[in-house]
Amino acid sequence: MRAILNGEGIVLGTCYYPEHWKKELWAEDLSRMLAVGIEVIRIGEFAWNKFEPQEGQFTFDFFDEFLDLAQEKGMKVIFCTPTATPPAWMSAKYPEILNADRDGHLYRHGNRQHYTYNSVKFQEFTRRLTEELGAHYGSHPAIIGWQLDNEFNCSLNEFYAESDTIAFQEFCREKYRTLDALNEAWGTVFWNQTYTAWEEVDVPRKVPADSVNPHRVLDYYRFVSDSACRYAKLQADILRKYLKPGDFITTNGIFGNLDNHRLTKESLDFMMYDSYPNFAYCLDDYRAEDFLKDRKWSRNLAQVRAISPVFGIMEQQSGANGWVNRMEAPTPRPGQMTLWTLQSIAHGADFVSYFRWRTCTFGTEIYWHGILDYSGRDNRRLLEVADIGDKVKRLDRLAGAVSGAKVGILQDYDNIWDAQVDSWHARVDRKSGASLFMALQQNHVPFDFVSLPEADLSGYEVLFYPHAAILTKEGTKKLEDWVAAGGKLVMGCRTGYKDAHGKCVMDYLPGLAAKLVGTDIPEYSFVAPDEGKVMVSWDGERAEAAVFCDQLEAVGEHAKVLARYEGGCFAGAPALVRNAYGAGEAYYFGAAFGVDTAELFLRRLEAAEPYGEQLLLPKEVELAVRKKDGTAYLFVLNYQHEAVEIEVKRPMQELLSGQTLNGKLKMKPYEVMVFV
Ligand code: GAL
Repeated sequence: MRAILNGEGIVLGTCYYPEHWKKELWAEDLSRMLAVGIEVIRIGEFAWNKFEPQEGQFTFDFFDEFLDLAQEKGMKVIFCTPTATPPAWMSAKYPEILNADRDGHLYRHGNRQHYTYNSVKFQEFTRRLTEELGAHYGSHPAIIGWQLDNEFNCSLNEFYAESDTIAFQEFCREKYRTLDALNEAWGTVFWNQTYTAWEEVDVPRKVPADSVNPHRVLDYYRFVSDSACRYAKLQADILRKYLKPGDFITTNGIFGNLDNHRLTKESLDFMMYDSYPNFAYCLDDYRAEDFLKDRKWSRNLAQVRAISPVFGIMEQQSGANGWVNRMEAPTPRPGQMTLWTLQSIAHGADFVSYFRWRTCTFGTEIYWHGILDYSGRDNRRLLEVADIGDKVKRLDRLAGAVSGAKVGILQDYDNIWDAQVDSWHARVDRKSGASLFMALQQNHVPFDFVSLPEADLSGYEVLFYPHAAILTKEGTKKLEDWVAAGGKLVMGCRTGYKDAHGKCVMDYLPGLAAKLVGTDIPEYSFVAPDEGKVMVSWDGERAEAAVFCDQLEAVGEHAKVLARYEGGCFAGAPALVRNAYGAGEAYYFGAAFGVDTAELFLRRLEAAEPYGEQLLLPKEVELAVRKKDGTAYLFVLNYQHEAVEIEVKRPMQELLSGQTLNGKLKMKPYEVMVFV
């Protein structure tokens, strides 16, 4: 039986660095943690030198002593492979382990994640160390699970060392077999980029006008992801030989240029996430007009849930942000740590571990505060953790509960990465992504990110696939089947105009989706900068056609024009077509979604306020729902610095207070209520 994420309870933890503190502090620290309800610690992720102080010399005493103490105290431990910080002796003697910038200049020792996954030497070191750690610590009774590395692809997610060039050539060779196939796939005849030998194929380096062949870059992102996944698997495969029954492997994500679904499937038992909502209050990036602020982290948490329906938070904000050179943010206000912890739990976390126990008194992160400040004295944040400990015990019964959302946003890595390469794609994606999230939040619609191709669509009633520029036959077939079975699908502009290489298709648009949405697109354009807002009118309600306009034409007997453009170069032309398809319907909207447009869709598709009969909520609060054994647990979260009023429309039990509540009531600043 797993010690955490076992469906039995919500567990708190913290990140601890025995190597940062005098040994005399260890026992007291562990006792103080246990006293406030912290049952699990994560250790070791940056401590390579404590295991291999010199090449090939292994020593285990330091962590043996600590683990034995943890065992004695009854503290459970998540142990890490410390590969995010290769030692100085390695960087100096084997510079081939180092990553490089696009010009090929090496990143030097002094921060972290300076390695490249593709260095054969680094893989050798990793393999040997992981074997040693697994063999030595794998059976330790205090250990309940392992974290691989730390935040794969966080510090850097592009790799340009010599070993990356070689590995990229291998990747391309395996994928395309022949240079002709690669040249065809990348369209290298354009600007005479044709390759005549595999040795000419390089990672995308600096070029004039800073614009590398986009199809090559798309494959490069796939290659980076493949490199990270293979590196993680190298570690996981070794550790699995040594794990005790019930012990798990995880890592803390989620970062760019990485197929986190594949990573999880191949190497992990579940994904964990590092949640720092206080980024919303960083001094240099603060945007007063941003309505959602820290609430936006719910979007990230939904992304983690798309990978692991129930997950853990390996690092949860517990103090001010700050490296010595950047990211300055204030300390969480009283109640905000509680709010952010419950935000994580509301979205699927059954384990929440605070970063970090003590604030470090040296190094780059002296301002990245943990629970305790430099002196280690009892403080207000420690008291808040103790209070959170009491609160989460009242939520044990919902452990293992999943989202059960009826609305989803479809996504896939090909389109995510294509939008990184392609600014037309990025522009519509950014707009619709932000608008849809805002509309779902303001209308209290629990939703999931739904990842193609693997996700099971059957539980959803409404799916948005805002701008699937790249469509595949397999993915389209899955959508057709789901719509035919009764689903409601909404697609936005720029659908289906690319193939899997990111090349435009010589076809009537929206390409593979044309049959499903009953639409033809004779012409398209950005909204011109001097055109003002282009609007559409849908049965008398007006909403924005943002950024881009596909001029539509309904095709076939089941397709119906629902709205037309008002303004813009296609004024009067169809802007929205609904196609009845089997038992369901597909909507094609020719633009990107503004918030008002997304809200209009939610209302018309009867998806807005699904819990409106139980709760009347202002837009200032979030509603998140977890379901288990037929019971829905409704989390209402107030992110505001002020009190807000909500209305409970029939008597409901509130789990954190233990009271039955009914009627209008005030939620205090940062207060969270959990209704059942
Ligand atoms: C995380 C990282 C931690 C710590 C923290 C604060 O991304 O995993 O090790 O650096 O940020 O900067």
